[in-house]
Amino acid sequence: MARSVIDIPDLSIEELDRLMDTAEDIMAHPDRYSERCRGKKLATLFFEPSTRTRLSFEAAMYELGGNVLSVTGAGTSSAAKGESVADTVKTVSCYADIIAMRHPKEGAALVAAQNATIPVINAGDGGHCHPTQTLADLMTIRREKGRLTNMTVGLCGDLKFGRTVHSLIQALSRYEGLSFVLISPEELKVPSYVKNDALKRRNIPYQQSTNLEDVIGDLDILYMTRVQRERFFNEEDYLRLRDSYILTPEKLKGAKQDLCIMHPLPRVNEISVAVDDDPRACYFKQVLYGKFIRMALIIKLLEEGRA
Ligand code: NCD
Repeated sequence: MARSVIDIPDLSIEELDRLMDTAEDIMAHPDRYSERCRGKKLATLFFEPSTRTRLSFEAAMYELGGNVLSVTGAGTSSAAKGESVADTVKTVSCYADIIAMRHPKEGAALVAAQNATIPVINAGDGGHCHPTQTLADLMTIRREKGRLTNMTVGLCGDLKFGRTVHSLIQALSRYEGLSFVLISPEELKVPSYVKNDALKRRNIPYQQSTNLEDVIGDLDILYMTRVQRERFFNEEDYLRLRDSYILTPEKLKGAKQDLCIMHPLPRVNEISVAVDDDPRACYFKQVLYGKFIRMALIIKLLEEGRA
């Protein structure tokens, strides 16, 4: 089995730090990396909608001098005929050198990794996890704050189905001196497996709140998220909960001057566009860093495969 990245614990804290260092180096010296993946092919298998994740993986591979094969939408591949994930990735292993896969089912990326003969990167599996968004998030925090330690991190919105939240909590829980404020409606709280594995087990302080304004002044990071409509069982609940939190310039009046406002995007209504001009808004920086850190990850996995 090739080395794959399915979830954040697949990477050690040293590896996370080294990936960020490589991404920084790529940003500073892009020409040094422009031939690194010459002759290699990345297959992007996206069975769920995506703009940033797929395009950033593809841009990453092109900027490394490699090529891309792409399946977008379950309806256009043999998945629509009933092919299993296992058979799909065994097939793709014959054509490509590395796979980035997004799938609506939790655990699909793991099944892919167990059946592929090439590295698989999980680009989001249902409401479970999304490790490469976390890499982009960590890099953003490190660049904006100069550290990944000693901070109060607020996560707000759909903490139940938001896979980026689950991976980010897992990653940050490995750094020293953090505390978390989990802001969500009762129905959309962080799943207990994430709280138990990442926070309780390590005795990391956290509080849960339903009110953003009550806690915004304590935060160094505010990570807003979209209510994940596609994971709801009924539309009524979605409509009731979708506008639970809308960040506006007004609400930011009580926030720290050096708050870092993040969002994995896509944004629906959670952050008013009037916030975009605030120097604390970092969500489009996350998009940019996401490409460089994916370049670093592709290089790492392909080189480990060669070793
Ligand atoms: C996220 C996802 O797909 O989980 N998007 C992304 O990859 N940046 C967040 C979301 O869809 O809300």
